[in-house]
Amino acid sequence: MGGSKSSQGEDFYREPESFRVEPRDHFPGASGVLFEQAMAQTRMAVCLCDPKQPDMPIVFANRAFREVTGYEEHEIVGRNCRFLQGPGTDQRELDKIRRALKTEDVVLVELLNYRKDGSTFWNALHLGPIYKPDGELMYFFGSQWDVSEVRAARADEQNARVMARELSHRMKNMFAVISGIVNITGRVRGIPKEAAEINGRIQALGRAYETTLDEASSGSIEIGPAIRAILAPYDADASRLAFVGNGLRVHFATVSVVGLVLHELAANATKFGAWSIDNGRVELDWSGSGKDGSKNLIVRWREFGGPSITASPQAGGTGTQIVDRMLRHGGGTIERRWNEDGLEATIVIPA
Ligand code: FNR
Repeated sequence: MGGSKSSQGEDFYREPESFRVEPRDHFPGASGVLFEQAMAQTRMAVCLCDPKQPDMPIVFANRAFREVTGYEEHEIVGRNCRFLQGPGTDQRELDKIRRALKTEDVVLVELLNYRKDGSTFWNALHLGPIYKPDGELMYFFGSQWDVSEVRAARADEQNARVMARELSHRMKNMFAVISGIVNITGRVRGIPKEAAEINGRIQALGRAYETTLDEASSGSIEIGPAIRAILAPYDADASRLAFVGNGLRVHFATVSVVGLVLHELAANATKFGAWSIDNGRVELDWSGSGKDGSKNLIVRWREFGGPSITASPQAGGTGTQIVDRMLRHGGGTIERRWNEDGLEATIVIPA
């Protein structure tokens, strides 16, 4: 490159040895110091091929091209780019190139290419024509981008999605089987009401876990979608429950405690609290707080417009016991305040 370098360019710019492309007079059209510097320094591999010469040889390839392919300059210039191909190169992608070259169109393909040492890389090749001001075709321009890692990440992601779907399917099955067992046992033992109560808890747990499957591998989950899923069945027309949460992420293990606690609060609200009458509603917010960088999950449940409460209800139902025990076990707390028009509960779950 740089055969027709202007005298002005010569004055203030000395081309580094490693950037020089020989033979200089093979690249007379694209002079200009800025262009040369940009081509030499860009990390994007670039080459130009001359369609007027037999077999459209490369007349210029920048340093990034040499780095990505592993070839020296003298092994590149003068050859057709197909020397980068091998048995794994997809013929259908090559057909796209052939068509584009014939019609002088721009094309983007992804090809398996081979480096000098025989190793392969996925080449996202973008090529197109370059014309002289009078409209005559002068070169074809090609830029090569090694997308091997991008493709691998894409494949991993796809794989993870398939796994998550499968896991979700199995988990739903498992919860359905457990429900079935509980129901049948309840019926056989003559305690269908108790069985239904247990089932409610199991289903709430199932819903909570369901939302976390995509993210579980990262160790932390966004708690908002889990909270929404746990409570969705209690608020069929989505008008009696207001969420004031943010995109808080918490440890994965938190989800089972949150699932059971919220289920109990919702079941109580339905039986005795704000959701037992027409205009009652619940507001729920959650946030993270932390001492020493740790992040506790704080969930606040507030009922409004419920039946008026004159005295604190007797504690000690099964649901309450489950909640208290689970929280205690994990070092968490629940504080219940019986306001006049409903319960206000603040739950703290350690990170
Ligand atoms: C190419 N070609 C190409 N092929 C490849 O495998 N890796 C590459 O990086 C490039 N780069 C490239 C740049 C430019 C500017 C052109 C014009 C072409 C494609 C290759 O040279 C050739 O066109 C195709 O192999 C299809 O033609 P053949 O092999 O049937 O002649």
